[in-house]
Amino acid sequence: MLKSTFLILIVQTSSITKLCKTSTVVTVNGMYPGPTIYAREDDRVVVKVTNLTPYNISIHWHGVRQRLTCWSDGPAYITQCPIQTGQSFTYRFALLNQRGTLFWHAHISWLRATVHGPLIIYPKRGVSYPFQPPVEEHVIVLGEYWVRDIQDLEKHVKESGGGPPGSDAYIFNGHPGPLHNCSTNDVYAINVTLGNKYLLRIINAALNIEHFFSVANHTMTVVETDGEYTKPFETSFIMLTPGQTYNVLITADQPVGKYYMAMAPYMPSKNVPFLNKTSYAILNYVDKLGRKSPSSLIPYEPILPNVYDTESVQAFSNQVKSLYSNKHWSTVDVPLKIDKSLFFAIGLNVFSCNSSDPDRCQGPNGGIFAASVNNVTFKRPAVSLLNAYYHNLEGYYSTDFPDAPEKMYDFVNKAPNNIGVNTQAAIGTQVSVLEYGWAVQVIFQDTGTVGAENHPIHLHGFSFYLLGTGLGNFNSSIANLNLYDPPYRNTVGVPVGGWAVIRFRADNPGIWFMHCHLEVHTTWGLSMAFLVKNGKGKMQTLPPPPPDLPLC
Ligand code: C2O
Repeated sequence: MLKSTFLILIVQTSSITKLCKTSTVVTVNGMYPGPTIYAREDDRVVVKVTNLTPYNISIHWHGVRQRLTCWSDGPAYITQCPIQTGQSFTYRFALLNQRGTLFWHAHISWLRATVHGPLIIYPKRGVSYPFQPPVEEHVIVLGEYWVRDIQDLEKHVKESGGGPPGSDAYIFNGHPGPLHNCSTNDVYAINVTLGNKYLLRIINAALNIEHFFSVANHTMTVVETDGEYTKPFETSFIMLTPGQTYNVLITADQPVGKYYMAMAPYMPSKNVPFLNKTSYAILNYVDKLGRKSPSSLIPYEPILPNVYDTESVQAFSNQVKSLYSNKHWSTVDVPLKIDKSLFFAIGLNVFSCNSSDPDRCQGPNGGIFAASVNNVTFKRPAVSLLNAYYHNLEGYYSTDFPDAPEKMYDFVNKAPNNIGVNTQAAIGTQVSVLEYGWAVQVIFQDTGTVGAENHPIHLHGFSFYLLGTGLGNFNSSIANLNLYDPPYRNTVGVPVGGWAVIRFRADNPGIWFMHCHLEVHTTWGLSMAFLVKNGKGKMQTLPPPPPDLPLC
């Protein structure tokens, strides 16, 4: 008998003051970041979401594999219509064979900037962690804060055709910390006792930028990523893309004092405006008697890689491996025979601007920014794709998403045509159809058509084995793929001007969104969806929609 966790999330507008400025933001239960959901492996989760804002809402459970519960996945216009003002929808899913740190967030417009919170799944009762239990655990949500209304900003970006400005602050659990204006006392702090071991559950909930994280004078031991245990390794920093989570252990083994925890941007592409600033939180030692270090003490500062240090990022992410030990904790089951092989070129495009108003043509060379997968810019449908599929509604999407680009070329250094300005893509709502149970391989290749960038690609409904990443154009004869102990993830940072190879088994029927977790790239169309067909019998068939599923 599965245990059920019941929750009520009220989406509302709240006013918060940060950086000495008061803004009206959308929150859940009035909290920013939102409330932490605690559950256990194999629990059933029932969450009633009520929308008291004037905007449309939907919530996604990032990293939850949603076995036979595609209707509860959450991306607006993909698996459901939005929850309209005054309405509710109850999400129902089970955390089957999942444990670790995940998170939930709004999956409509740019509301996830403030509508997000941790989802912590403890191991089943009586099952321990595959490491010495920590004395305490802390959840750290890394975020990006804008003083300006986020939907207003989104609207402006869409209308201008250009890129978004950077945020006003990087924040730890909602706190900007001492390096930001007006924030000397708005600092997140953790008290630690000398000699103790701590587990930090770190979530990158930022909208448009990747982050380094580090703790001054302390080595971290990585033990989990994206809700899956990893082979422990030590590191002085980690890099998390939006959508990624890392669990790390630290031991309070330094002289009693104060140590900064830092987050700082990783931005390898040139010409993208962003906030080039570090933010601090504090690790505060108390002695065995509980006495704090004096408040006048100046904390130690961590050393982080440079903002564009791709070499360090690659060296770090290459160390992430599956634990591959006890069956209880982690089994590795990489599909060795591939049923469907896909090659997805991902990147930015520039459309020509048809407006005579220069304010609407703010992209490169007077064009409009777009993005694509295999040169198809995803167009959001006006209805839920899953609904259209389930009820055989015609005309909302087609099933011909290309398996590969129209032609192979030097993706990193050249454009598909030699026209510098016009890198127009096709616009469409196309899905890639997978038979139930197929073993799928996807090679992602970043393009430099407009500008190379690190793209955090997130797949809904599945975790995938990340067999390898590298810089430059993918070359199968030299690519080194790990079939032995690859990490099992839900979000992969496809390196700037580089590639990544993933494999997963399409054993969950439904429509599953795949997109860049830099929100602006999703807005521009860097997304597509898989349609996974039903298999045989009840256990391989998508059940009918829940009765309270919102209508468009
Ligand atoms: Cu975390 Cu489709 O998103």
